Amino acid sequence: MSIILAIESSCDETSVAICNNGKITANVIANQTIHQNYGGVIPELASRVHQQNIVPVIQQALSDAKVNKKDLNAVAFTRGPGLLGSLLVGVSFAKSFALGLDLPLIAVNHMHAHILAHFIDDPKPSFPFLCLTVSGGHTQIVLVKSYFEMEIIGETLDDAAGEAFDKTAKILKLPYPGGPLVDKHAQLGNPLAYKFAVPQIKDFNYSFSGFKTSILYFIRAQEKENANFIKENLNDICASVQYSIVNILLTKLKKAASEMGISEIAIAGGVSANSGLRTSLQSMATQEGWNIYIPAFEYCTDNAAMIAMAGHFKYMNQDFVGQDVAPLSRMEF
Ligand code: KG4
Ligand code: ZN
Repeated sequence: MSIILAIESSCDETSVAICNNGKITANVIANQTIHQNYGGVIPELASRVHQQNIVPVIQQALSDAKVNKKDLNAVAFTRGPGLLGSLLVGVSFAKSFALGLDLPLIAVNHMHAHILAHFIDDPKPSFPFLCLTVSGGHTQIVLVKSYFEMEIIGETLDDAAGEAFDKTAKILKLPYPGGPLVDKHAQLGNPLAYKFAVPQIKDFNYSFSGFKTSILYFIRAQEKENANFIKENLNDICASVQYSIVNILLTKLKKAASEMGISEIAIAGGVSANSGLRTSLQSMATQEGWNIYIPAFEYCTDNAAMIAMAGHFKYMNQDFVGQDVAPLSRMEF
């Protein structure tokens, strides 16, 4: 029996969740709108807003789950990877909260947690499975052997897929965060209107840096001919860029699945909310005979429910850390 309170503060969402015996009973997320004015997350502002949000978000989560803090069995928190100043707020709060209530502390790797979000609801993948983890900072193909044995078999050599979406949005003068807006416009456009070069990278690895630059050059060249190019073709540009990113992501995933002989396939992370990725994965699954696992929208982007789920499995192993634990902006997988 365990009731775990979990805190996520790795980037610009302050989130607190409660996991009661493996079931999520609260998942409160406070988004930070302040960054919209700057076109990207400003780390210093993010940590300040986490400080303002953390207490009300904790109170809301306890109230939603109808739990008294005295009933908690452990406090889980995101240790990393992420923005150091943001992580510091969650880690410091978790430590003092646990100290005050005499509770054990559970340190969670944010990228593991994105994958373990698949164990919140049914159907759950069976081990071993492959997970394409695509977020604002990471693009990885992970071989998941058990709750905590995970091996990165391919990853981006430079930028993440989420960055390619966000940078495209910036080039197209769409506000931050751009990924969801590119997705929205893409649903109204022709994915074959424009063709972009596919990076040729070895093994199961990715690269999005040259791809991002090719979009910038393409738009600049088109704008020289027609100053209203973006305005007149926004939906088609978004649809074509999204089509290319999804194609790049799924081609490598298919190669990995085929070479490793695995047909349990999952996606995770913020970009797994993308409608093009979700639909194309479904078609590929039918062709390839895969069982696929796509997270509910609320568990794609950053949330504490996934930290609570990871916390639950670690609690069962009595895998605790001491009060000397510190956040890590980069973290061993
Ligand atoms: O996992 P996440 O919330 O935060 C990180 O751990 O990085 O992922 C955020 C990323 C951003 O790049 C955001 O633009 C992207 O996920 N994203 C999307 C969509 N929703 C979020 N990208 C494409 N289409 C979406 N619908
Ligand atoms: Zn994330």
